[in-house]
Amino acid sequence: MPSDSPAPVVRHEALNRDHFLLTLESARIAREARAGQFVMIQTRAGSDPLLRRPMSIYRVLPGRRGLIQILYKVVGTGTRYLSQQPRGALLGTLGPLGNGFRLPEPGTRPVLVAGGIGIAIFPFLAEALRKGRGPSPVLLYGGRSKRDLVALDFFRSRRIPVRLATEDGSTGTRGFVTRLLETLLAARKAADHLELFVCGPTPMLKAVGAVATGAGVACQLALESQMPCGIGVCLGCVVPCPGDARGPLFRRVCTEGPIFRASEVAL
Ligand SMILES: Cc1cc2nc3c(=O)[nH]c(=O)nc-3n(C[C@H](O)[C@H](O)[C@H](O)COP(=O)(O)OP(=O)(O)OC[C@H]3O[C@@H](n4cnc5c(N)ncnc54)[C@H](O)[C@@H]3O)c2cc1C
Ligand code: FES
Repeated sequence: MPSDSPAPVVRHEALNRDHFLLTLESARIAREARAGQFVMIQTRAGSDPLLRRPMSIYRVLPGRRGLIQILYKVVGTGTRYLSQQPRGALLGTLGPLGNGFRLPEPGTRPVLVAGGIGIAIFPFLAEALRKGRGPSPVLLYGGRSKRDLVALDFFRSRRIPVRLATEDGSTGTRGFVTRLLETLLAARKAADHLELFVCGPTPMLKAVGAVATGAGVACQLALESQMPCGIGVCLGCVVPCPGDARGPLFRRVCTEGPIFRASEVAL
């Protein structure tokens, strides 16, 4: 059951000019959250902006205090206000929301595929995978430029192999993250069982989903959409899905997602 309460800002760090790591205290969300779920967060006190913004749960910190972290990028009005919230500010926080990732079958190697700020969903998943003691994941991470690639220390300090791609070639392979994926798939052995976990902009989800389907590899996509309510009421977040003779079906990203199998959505 999601909780809705004012969560105090415990820590708020700028990672670079437009990426921030926010730590909030919310014992109930910390206790109940699963990897892949999100919160709807008020970006400043008062009623402007009226709508809360959806943010993935980046981590639940160990310990009894009930601390959750959000990693976000400033892209518009709400996230700009959020970046100005000092320690001690109270931010209405509703969650945990959404369905979360399904953990892979035993023996399956998870491949995390992140585009830009899509990385924010993966530390929590990496920690859940570690607790599950299955094969260690590998991270394929793409962005426009080196500056868009954040949170690398989290993965490197846990010895998770990281492969990078940037569109401008400022670090890693030049090009899209799909190049890294194609290289990885070409090198895999017949006995390797892989599952892709993907989060990033919609064109990237579409491209990665197509590569996965072509290669016959299981693939879960974390979708983004406008989310006015986050609780299944307004239908502002629907995504088309394969339907039947009567036409496409629509599903709510907030309650039936945000995680879908690639075959479940028609992006
Ligand atoms: C499940 C989920 C998880 C996410 N996790 C993260 C994360 O971890 N980190 C991160 O940086 N970003 C994340 N995002 C994206 C993040 O929510 C957006 O970047 C953020 O909402 C932008 O807010 P803004 O006010 O700064 O941007 P703006 O572009 O100024 O405003 C976007 C907001 O405008 C409103 N809006 C605009 N058009 C409409 C419309 N047609 N109908 C209804 N409302 C509208 C909505 O409130 C919308 O959220 C996530 C998105 C989703 C769906
Ligand atoms: S955001 Fe309102 S139904 Fe999904």
